[in-house]
Amino acid sequence: MITGLYHAHASSWAITLLLFFIAYFLIVANKQKPGKIVHMVLRLFYVIMVVSGVGLLINYQFALTFLIKGLLALVLIYFMEMILVRTKKGVLIGKMKTYYWIQFAITAILVVLIGFNVLSF
Ligand code: HEM
Repeated sequence: MITGLYHAHASSWAITLLLFFIAYFLIVANKQKPGKIVHMVLRLFYVIMVVSGVGLLINYQFALTFLIKGLLALVLIYFMEMILVRTKKGVLIGKMKTYYWIQFAITAILVVLIGFNVLSF
């Protein structure tokens, strides 16, 4: 069960990030329909990430490092959604755009580093 959860999580995180970039470039290129489909698949991957992540977290008895990682991952999902939805609406411009992308990059790097045990506390 735990190995299953771990593999589901470990093999889905890169796909999740990749789908985010594909959805973003499709939206920017104004390819409405494919953009919408990839965004929907991405949302399915959010669910896979959160469910498998929470399963692992329970297995690790909510160890602080992983609890923080899980919370940061939720923040990351929030920024991915905001970037996609606001880009689609055409309201992600100027300083706001820079702010969202910087937040996305910082949280993504932290989540992956903590995930691979490079960072722990
Ligand atoms: C988009 C969101 C997420 C990304 C990009 C992500 C990324 C990662 C990565 C790269 C790993 C290491 C996998 C490996 O060893 O191959 C990992 C492990 C883990 N993740 Fe996530 N994760 C996300 C969401 C979550 C959530 C929502 C939770 C909990 C609520 C969570 C909890 C964990 C736990 C407990 C581990 C196990 C660490 C270990 O055994 O070393 N993750 N994650």
